[in-house]
Amino acid sequence: MKNKLSSNDVHEKVRRKYAEISCSIRDRFKYPTGREGLLMLGYDLQGAGAIPEGIIESFCGVGNPFSLGPVRHGDIVLDAGCGGGFDVVTASHFTGPEGRVYGIDLVPEMAEKARRNIVSMGLSNCEIQAAALEAVPFNDNTFDVIISNGTIYLSPLKEKSLREVYRVLKPGGCFQFADVVLNDDLPEKVVACFDGWSG
Ligand SMILES: C[S@@+](CC[C@H](N)C(=O)[O-])C[C@H]1O[C@@H](n2cnc3c(N)ncnc32)[C@H](O)[C@@H]1O
Repeated sequence: MKNKLSSNDVHEKVRRKYAEISCSIRDRFKYPTGREGLLMLGYDLQGAGAIPEGIIESFCGVGNPFSLGPVRHGDIVLDAGCGGGFDVVTASHFTGPEGRVYGIDLVPEMAEKARRNIVSMGLSNCEIQAAALEAVPFNDNTFDVIISNGTIYLSPLKEKSLREVYRVLKPGGCFQFADVVLNDDLPEKVVACFDGWSG
């Protein structure tokens, strides 16, 4: 299936859409988000410590990357497409202060929201950058675990994004991601429109 939108078009439209979602997530998704989504996906909201309601509300992931494998004490973790930062905060609960958790998000407003959320929790082992999955701003072999939740499907250059993930993952590290997949090709007219692209 060929994407009719250019990579720049997709990035620009994702920026616009998620800048709005960073202000209000209400009625923006066809699947459960926030607390309802987290409970449906099996997140342990008690075990993850006391997470403020505002951070819980910002969750719009499509699965639970922590159900795929452990994040260990002291791990260096990347959340690729961190949104409002719920999974960053959750990962930092597992790494403890000896580990570090980095989040990147294409959309500056979303990255800023995650930054504010982390500051509000007083977490000093987390850091957020506005950056694209297609050009991850870290050195080769940096991370023990990379998580991603509902982001790769939004990348117009999926192979490039996955190569970037592989590049910054340490040998033997784990990539634990949840995403949206197509079982079949989409009709042409859906491929040509951004809402079809982004679900
Ligand atoms: C469905 S939301 C999921 C956010 C977060 N992972 C969560 O679970 O709440 C997708 C996120 O991916 C970000 N995103 C989309 N395309 C991206 C790209 N090419 N590189 C980095 N982030 C991207 C969006 O800005 C948005 O915050």
